[in-house]
Amino acid sequence: MAELTLRTVEKRFGNVQAVKAVDLDVEHGEFIVLVGPSGCGKSTLLRMIAGLEEISSGEIMLDGRSLNAVAPRDRDMAMVFQDYALYPHMTVAENLGFALKMRDMAAAAIEEKVHAVARMLELDALLERKPKALSGGQRQRVALGRALIRDPKVFLFDEPLSNLDAKLRVGMRMEIRKLQVALGTTSIYVTHDQIEAMTMADRIVVLKLGEVQQIGTPIDIYQRPVNSFVGTFIGSPPMSLVPARRRGENGEAVLAFGRGHDIRLPPERVEALTRAGVDQVEVGLRAEHISLAEPGDADGAAFTSDVILVEEHGADSIAVVTLGEREVMARVKPGAAHVGDKARRFRLDVDALHLFHPETGRRLV
Ligand SMILES: Nc1ncnc2c1ncn2[C@@H]1O[C@H](COP(=O)(O)OP(=O)(O)OP(=O)(O)O)[C@@H](O)[C@H]1O
Ligand SMILES: [Mg+2]
Repeated sequence: MAELTLRTVEKRFGNVQAVKAVDLDVEHGEFIVLVGPSGCGKSTLLRMIAGLEEISSGEIMLDGRSLNAVAPRDRDMAMVFQDYALYPHMTVAENLGFALKMRDMAAAAIEEKVHAVARMLELDALLERKPKALSGGQRQRVALGRALIRDPKVFLFDEPLSNLDAKLRVGMRMEIRKLQVALGTTSIYVTHDQIEAMTMADRIVVLKLGEVQQIGTPIDIYQRPVNSFVGTFIGSPPMSLVPARRRGENGEAVLAFGRGHDIRLPPERVEALTRAGVDQVEVGLRAEHISLAEPGDADGAAFTSDVILVEEHGADSIAVVTLGEREVMARVKPGAAHVGDKARRFRLDVDALHLFHPETGRRLV
């Protein structure tokens, strides 16, 4: 049985429909990441789960019990906010123990739990400090500790790492995930950062304008995005979209990108275009779908381009090249391409590239 269930959950603020008919089944212990651009309804959805925002219609259930009429404090969920929301006049120890004190737990038991959580988060040395005497990362740990100490059924996170610098963010995302795996607590994590979504999630929910676009594991979503929005939103460097026209040639099919860039398609991919009845397509290309061609590579999958720019990433390099009228990114070995290189030969992985409907953006194959 799913731990947390959302059934056609909607939210309207006057004329604004912030969340549209969201269905989601979260398994016990799962780490779910809600991701999407600013304003897509992530926080609203999370706040409805927490009970901080009323739902306009639909139902939210925990362990099969409807939460619709349950007050936030009775939902057995703990939320961590982007701005930490610590009590400024209390010490770290008091901040950590506050929720337990409100539940009338005995002072000795509170102290024991505070020390246990402080050890887990390496806050031992900071217990007597006030929040203003802490760094951003330390404050975020206290906020995390306040959620952990309550031992809730569900953790809710709303962009908890957004105020930290890039290096700390990478460290903290691993720590949060390690703690969550160790505790096995069902978690819903909101972020606009697709890298956080990819690296942390068991399953990702991609939202756009209040609507679920796709729900799946990071690998599912990366490899088989249901539309060009998901394809371009998830992945780094981002997927390039290039329009191409299908042209028949001796019973085979060719994608004409323009500028003499013609690529031969495998038969099963051609059939998908025939079934959809489209000649014009939007081709989604990830950097790893384009590489430097080797001498023996078939002409049908190769094109030539000058090298506009090279970004070194250490383990590999990303070369910006031209395919048809668009710039695309190619993944090459470090040092294999240089800015200003003329007429280099590149190869497309024709089995892996994504084909999207030119108007709806829906995945064709
Ligand atoms: N109290 C409110 N009254 C009216 N509209 C609201 C209210 N709260 C949110 N909205 C609108 O609902 C939509 C979703 O907002 P929400 O805060 O959930 O987005 P988000 O995905 O969390 O964005 P961000 O990444 O910027 O935090 C937005 O269009 C927002 O303007
Ligand atoms: Mg938000």
